[in-house]
Amino acid sequence: MNRPYIICHMVVSLDGKVTGDFLCRPACEKATEIYYDINRTVSSAGFICGRVTMESSFTGGWYPDLSAYAPVESKADFVPDYLSGFYAVAFDTRGRLGWQSNRIIDDDPGYGNAQIIEILSENVDARYLGYLQSMGIPYVFAGKEAIDVDTALVKLKALFDIQTLLLEGGSILNGAFQKAGVIDELSLVVAPLTADACDKPLFMDSELREHCLASVESKDGILVLKYKKV
Ligand SMILES: NC(=O)c1ccc[n+]([C@@H]2O[C@H](COP(=O)([O-])OP(=O)(O)OC[C@H]3O[C@@H](n4cnc5c(N)ncnc54)[C@H](OP(=O)(O)O)[C@@H]3O)[C@@H](O)[C@H]2O)c1
Repeated sequence: MNRPYIICHMVVSLDGKVTGDFLCRPACEKATEIYYDINRTVSSAGFICGRVTMESSFTGGWYPDLSAYAPVESKADFVPDYLSGFYAVAFDTRGRLGWQSNRIIDDDPGYGNAQIIEILSENVDARYLGYLQSMGIPYVFAGKEAIDVDTALVKLKALFDIQTLLLEGGSILNGAFQKAGVIDELSLVVAPLTADACDKPLFMDSELREHCLASVESKDGILVLKYKKV
């Protein structure tokens, strides 16, 4: 395969939602705990998230003052010499994520210290590229105006030798991967709640696809389902 094996790992409500208040309810705590535990133990080179999830989980909306950085006009990928082998891959079309370190700062070893990789379109402020270079954050272009999922994944394997990645949301990015047909495995931790009508589904966009059940486990009353692509 010329791209990493992708495992979509998510907490889902009983009605198949992945965003919203249900995630913060006490009844969801055990499912969340199991989710993080699986994240720490699955053998992978790290995780992928959409721009919104990265913002809500890690950057908190902070953004650098780009006037402090020299523009980089070249649209060549930036891959520094030192690669850690453990990555946080951000799908960030226009370079809207502000990182204060080139590693994820988090107490959870399933996330903390992951080397950030920015996946970008070419529709990005040249000064943002200067900022990423000054921070030592690798970046890869995967489309002119939007990010093409296939292109991004092929580059992740070719440039970083990444064999397996967890796709960890949110709904919009999961949907783009589902449409592209690149989800090899689903790892679903089912929280015993239903969600609000306005919350987003596992895949915001999708096509009809078949999966086969690989395992079912019940951990402390929480179902953990694994499905493989047929
Ligand atoms: N239940 C769980 O296990 C779980 C896990 C993770 C997150 N979440 C929840 O998910 C919520 C966020 O999900 P979300 O669906 O709103 O956003 P998301 O999927 O995290 O991010 C979507 C954004 O990613 C960017 N993007 C880059 N390339 C893309 C592509 N090829 N296709 C589609 N989008 C692309 C776009 O923003 P730009 O155009 O700005 O680049 C897009 O708006 C959070 O509130 C979080 O709580 C839940």
